[in-house]
Amino acid sequence: MLALGIEGTAHTVGVGIVDGSCRVLANVYGMIKPEKGGIHPREAANHHAEAVVPLLQKALDVAGIGPDAVDIIAFSQGPGLGPCLRTVATAARALALTLRVPIVGVNHCVAHLEIGRGTTECEDPALLYVSGGNTQVIAFSRGRYRVFGETLDIGIGNMLDKFGREVGLPFPSGPILEKLARDGSILLPLPYSVKGMDVAFSGMFTAALGLRRDGARLEELAFSIQEVAFAMLTEVTERAMAHIGKDEVLLGGGVARNRRLQEMVGRMASDRGARMFVPPGDLCIDNGAMIAWTGLEMHRAGVRMSLDDTVVDQRFRTDEVAVTWR
Ligand code: ATP
Ligand code: FE2
Repeated sequence: MLALGIEGTAHTVGVGIVDGSCRVLANVYGMIKPEKGGIHPREAANHHAEAVVPLLQKALDVAGIGPDAVDIIAFSQGPGLGPCLRTVATAARALALTLRVPIVGVNHCVAHLEIGRGTTECEDPALLYVSGGNTQVIAFSRGRYRVFGETLDIGIGNMLDKFGREVGLPFPSGPILEKLARDGSILLPLPYSVKGMDVAFSGMFTAALGLRRDGARLEELAFSIQEVAFAMLTEVTERAMAHIGKDEVLLGGGVARNRRLQEMVGRMASDRGARMFVPPGDLCIDNGAMIAWTGLEMHRAGVRMSLDDTVVDQRFRTDEVAVTWR
């Protein structure tokens, strides 16, 4: 069985094709990079509308299959930016109708976790999901994926990108700050903001900008932001793992590619006799393969959607999904 998934919740539009054992046959994407300022939902949607058909063709070419080989169409139903979600849903509906195959709407956050379960050896992990828009600790409990901790203001990746923008770095700034941090070693004072299993980053953003204005070197700032922010994330992940009794931790989202974060979470895991899993980088970021795989799992478990069920949901919560496939 082959599933084709279309992702388009924010900056990235992606198309992935996976088979029934989570082998990724294709995973291609395009991304809108804002010239200045943040992402504009309408512009991103226009970008996705133009990019999606060529990406569909490219994914089929990479997989070496024709459209008739596809058994299910899956798409990101939410959470995300309304115009982007609607654009991708429209493409998915048109494709499913043309190919006469079932369509499945997928929760984006759940897909980050499922692709990790599908492509690594973990079975029942706590997911530390760290991207631009999202920062959550998610785990399976009583038939649902539940959010045990999350950011109370902005996502970690958003904080890194905003800080980068203010100091003149190109978008996305996360990977650039990671490189700069390697040449920093002085820990500058930044607020460590953990409340129970939740975190907050806007205070750190403001404080870091203030230090920059006072002449702090970018390398020290990048180093300090990473040390403090990642320590916060590691702490809440550990607390969630202890609370729900999980001995596996999975990383997901674009920031999960950061080596320093991997090192800190990996250290925490081994200290408590747990294991850490990190999917390949192009399955950590927003991607179509994770949508395809989750849609395939849902379909196999008997989930069926009429076109009326495919309405997008900008605020689609992780724990709204009845997880019937595990
Ligand atoms: P979502 O819609 O799930 O919030 P997103 O649109 O932010 O996702 P992702 O591709 O998951 O997309 O993540 C992008 C974020 O990851 C950006 O904020 C980027 O700066 C950050 N990022 C990517 N690589 C690294 C890295 N090596 N270190 C730190 N941050 C990184
Ligand atoms: Fe994401």
